[in-house]
Amino acid sequence: MKSMVVANWKMSPETMREAKALFEATRKAAESAKDVSVLVAPPAIFLRDLASAYKGRRIVFAAQNGHFEKNGAHTGEISMPQIKDAKASAIIIGHAERRAAGETNAETRAKISMALSQKLQPIFCVGEHNRSAGGEHFLYVKEQLKTGLQDVTPANLGKIVIAYEPVWAIGASEAMSPRQMHEMAIFIRKSLVGSHSEKAIKTKILYGGSIDETNARDMLEGGDVQGLLVGRASTDVSKFAALIKSIA
Ligand code: PGA
Repeated sequence: MKSMVVANWKMSPETMREAKALFEATRKAAESAKDVSVLVAPPAIFLRDLASAYKGRRIVFAAQNGHFEKNGAHTGEISMPQIKDAKASAIIIGHAERRAAGETNAETRAKISMALSQKLQPIFCVGEHNRSAGGEHFLYVKEQLKTGLQDVTPANLGKIVIAYEPVWAIGASEAMSPRQMHEMAIFIRKSLVGSHSEKAIKTKILYGGSIDETNARDMLEGGDVQGLLVGRASTDVSKFAALIKSIA
């Protein structure tokens, strides 16, 4: 199976010119690796220009966020129909940085429904802030999954990708170990089988948090994940190319 790499550019780069150059390098890396499917999530303001200029098929565009209502008086927000119109086909929902800015589990639930209704693939982020010997982090993730996926039918669950990103490993110096990820992947699949259906065993899970060219391969091989959500290393041209090469 192809592994999936989501390049989450966050609030970088500063100019359209730099965004085009970064995209061009990303495109080259993606096209050299047939076994990797690459999603690029640029800042929304660059999305339409990049997606319209891109004539290939290998790269899929994603938004980093979107509003849960279809339209309305929401100054500064971007709706999912607008995201779809800008030629994105996926959307990151519930990223830790959105949650830190106040997004709740109930909002992720509404956003997932809106995304599915607009035929945008949700990349649904979950992850705990801390780990404890008592294993409370498992319950924390279970609650994020339960609320976020409450309106998703078992048949629609297959359209969703779960991105597990422990908050303590995002923007950090080290990723979680593949062994810990493996344990969490089993837990996530079990939870989804319980809440949805047996088929949830096939849910695609990504890992995110301090992934780069030095640990991507080990995580894919040992973490029981089908892909990676990459922040910093996705905006560093040489690191991203090396990362893709390491897993191709
Ligand atoms: P990082 O970010 O790769 O810079 O740790 C990951 C993310 O926030 O998705």
